[in-house]
Amino acid sequence: MSDSPLLKDRRPAATAASSTASPCADAHPADSSGVSSPPLDSTPSSQQGAHAGRRRFLQSAVAGAALTSAPLAARAQQAAPVTAEAVPAPAVFSPPAVGARPVQLTVNGRRYDLQLEPRVTLLDALRDYAGLIGSKKGCDRGQCGACTVLVNGRRINSCLTLAVMHEGDAITTVEGLGSQSAPSTMQRSFIEYDAFQCGFCTPGQLCSATAALTEFRNGDASAVSADPRTRPASLTDVEIRERMSGNICRCGAYQNIVGAIRSTARAARLPTDPTEQAVVPGFAKRAPSKT
Ligand code: FES
Ligand code: FES
Repeated sequence: MSDSPLLKDRRPAATAASSTASPCADAHPADSSGVSSPPLDSTPSSQQGAHAGRRRFLQSAVAGAALTSAPLAARAQQAAPVTAEAVPAPAVFSPPAVGARPVQLTVNGRRYDLQLEPRVTLLDALRDYAGLIGSKKGCDRGQCGACTVLVNGRRINSCLTLAVMHEGDAITTVEGLGSQSAPSTMQRSFIEYDAFQCGFCTPGQLCSATAALTEFRNGDASAVSADPRTRPASLTDVEIRERMSGNICRCGAYQNIVGAIRSTARAARLPTDPTEQAVVPGFAKRAPSKT
């Protein structure tokens, strides 16, 4: 019966050292011709004994680790299904799919028969279904005012409302304020006062400014009115700025926008502050270039 590695290792170090076999014999077994390979290590026998002791220590440590970890691994395998059962998967709510349905919108006096899913916003319905791309999508979350349109004369952010809620309403977009050949007074003033740079916010600014003058004419106060129960005596620049505060212009054309609105208010004979002058040179008022 051949010696097991453990039995071999239990031999006294001196015996193992005095054996004719090298301590590294396991690493250099006899080849098929029966001739043992010469030991590569010519270490003295006292050091060979120390190597054998170190190897026995490593072997026993590995065996001990295997014995210790085996029951733990078995226990972990048994515990896994219990944990999976104890924590049930969360129920996933999947709403039933709702298809498109016929929606009738009246925009700029014209009727549009559209097929819309209930989740479509008024802004998307105008731009993507009715083809009215004048209203712009700046933020799609009610922060910039680029999507402002008029619904029954009042300004709203069309990105924050659903199209199906506006069947029967009179919707006005920037395309409905005027035409290229006959722009509205507000549109003329914006051109005259150069009240834009890139123009992305301009459709919303025009709709908002148009409604702001109507609100002032109807007697609405604003957050800066001295007495919120009554309309202020005049439409000052502070009033204009407050009433237009929902429309952001990233180009910073605010001074010219206020000038255009003030000019339109004066043309409509609304009271404005006479001390505030239209000091902004308008594009149309500039002297033609001599070059
Ligand atoms: S896109 Fe509607 S508020 Fe900005
Ligand atoms: S003109 Fe560019 S954002 Fe207003």
